[in-house]
Amino acid sequence: MLKKSMFSAIAVLLLVSFGTGQALASVGGTPPPSQQWSTDGFFGAFDRAQLKRGYQVFQEICSSCHSIRLIYYRNLQEIGFTEDEVKEIAAEFEVPAGPNEDGETHEDGEPIMRKAKPFDKIVNPFANDNAARAANAGALPPDLSLMTKARPGFADYVYALMVGYKDAPEGFKLQEGMSYNEYFPGHQIAMGPPLSDEGVEYADGTKATVDQMARDITAFLIWTAEPELEERKRLGVKVLIFLLVFTAMLYAVKRQVWSDQH
Ligand code: HEC
Repeated sequence: MLKKSMFSAIAVLLLVSFGTGQALASVGGTPPPSQQWSTDGFFGAFDRAQLKRGYQVFQEICSSCHSIRLIYYRNLQEIGFTEDEVKEIAAEFEVPAGPNEDGETHEDGEPIMRKAKPFDKIVNPFANDNAARAANAGALPPDLSLMTKARPGFADYVYALMVGYKDAPEGFKLQEGMSYNEYFPGHQIAMGPPLSDEGVEYADGTKATVDQMARDITAFLIWTAEPELEERKRLGVKVLIFLLVFTAMLYAVKRQVWSDQH
């Protein structure tokens, strides 16, 4: 009897810990088909080469409209860029400098700028939301840092959105400047298809198909949403091992204590 309930307890534990939150995103468009990610499952981990490709897609394409405001340049070291590479990447961008010796922050009405450093946040393409809307026909390109965590299963949605652009079906009234996307709620999206084959030339030589780029950028956004994912999973494994050992010990003690009763 006890043995049975012990096994079912372990089974429940395993089930709970292996569940990856596959609940379908209720986004109102066509439900996105579920994809496989290297970070799925109990032993999931980041694929650093893929994250670097994803950053390249973000930088060369998405960052002209979207911010990832939770990420600093120095964080890019965590996905495999060296310290010097991060310095070089940061130095390509400019941020407002602090006040100079005279306490001035502006010169001739223009803010004083300096090159970005690894400790700066990844530079936002627009000064503020109004400027972002103005450049996008009134629609706001949302910050992408936490996008894949917006709802359970949202990584699948981001991938689906990237590959979901189609011609509008006959009879569908598409407004001026909008694109048809199978997975976007209502199917009319103010973002034109951001990816096209060879949209980037990957530094590692991988062929840049739309599918490849869509997977890489999504993997990158899984990382921006939870850079500490690997630590969390490792801790989970440790806790599970502890619980298994602990359960076995309790069982041994129980047998010992009850041995003369049998
Ligand atoms: C030319 C500007 C532009 C570029 C480049 C761009 N986006 Fe967008 N994006 C937008 C706008 C505008 C919206 C808001 C769309 C709307 O609300 O209809 C948006 C919305 C989104 C959304 C949210 C969709 C939703 O369900 O609300 C995601 C995710 C997204 N973009 C990802 C990306 C990724 C990834 C890239 C790079 C591969 C990218 N975007 C490139 C302008 C852009």
